[in-house]
Amino acid sequence: MIRHLNLTLAIFKLILFYVFMRQMIRNACEKDLDEIYKVELKSFKIPYPCHYLKMLLSIAPTYFLVAEEEGRVLGYISGIVRLGKIGHIISIAVDPDHRGKGIGERLVKALLEKFKENGMKKVRLEVRISNIAAINLYKKLGFTIEKRLKNYYPDGEDCYIMTKKLC
Ligand SMILES: CC(C)(COP(=O)(O)OP(=O)(O)OC[C@H]1O[C@@H](n2cnc3c(N)ncnc32)[C@H](O)[C@@H]1OP(=O)(O)O)[C@@H](O)C(=O)NCCC(=O)NCCS
Repeated sequence: MIRHLNLTLAIFKLILFYVFMRQMIRNACEKDLDEIYKVELKSFKIPYPCHYLKMLLSIAPTYFLVAEEEGRVLGYISGIVRLGKIGHIISIAVDPDHRGKGIGERLVKALLEKFKENGMKKVRLEVRISNIAAINLYKKLGFTIEKRLKNYYPDGEDCYIMTKKLC
């Protein structure tokens, strides 16, 4: 019985090791930009241009992270610091073929950790009011809706400003 339990535990550890070795969250670098941009194009009806993503990476590399699996970029998140103390999530996207596997959640958690390490007390973001997947993700991680801004996006859609206190 004990031997059986040990074997099960060993297999479980092996699976965990395999999953975490295959997938990791790390800081982005310039050579990731092509793959990040591919994810961006697949994810938004009005994607950011590649030069904008490049600019975000150059002004705030600490807060630009990617989820990588076996050398491939499956998702990214980018943030900046406002007024020296507010973390602002600018964008997050996960490759459509890899959604629903917890990658988005890991990216947001990793960025929140970076903001916290660097002394941010609050995090904010804007999200389309129709973007249920993203709104649920942020709510799950403790964000609340602070206000709604009319006609925020170029196509006229409103956004919610969502915030979370970091302590
Ligand atoms: C929003 C997005 C980043 C989520 O990434 P993801 O890796 O699929 O999300 P996860 O698997 O980590 O899911 C975490 C939580 O998000 C919410 N969520 C994710 N997908 C959802 C969906 N299709 N419907 C409803 N809620 C969803 C759930 O609360 C989920 O938690 P649960 O699994 O316990 O239910 C992804 O859908 C995406 O890239 N969308 C296009 C780009 C975008 O809209 N970015 C946000 C801009 S503000």
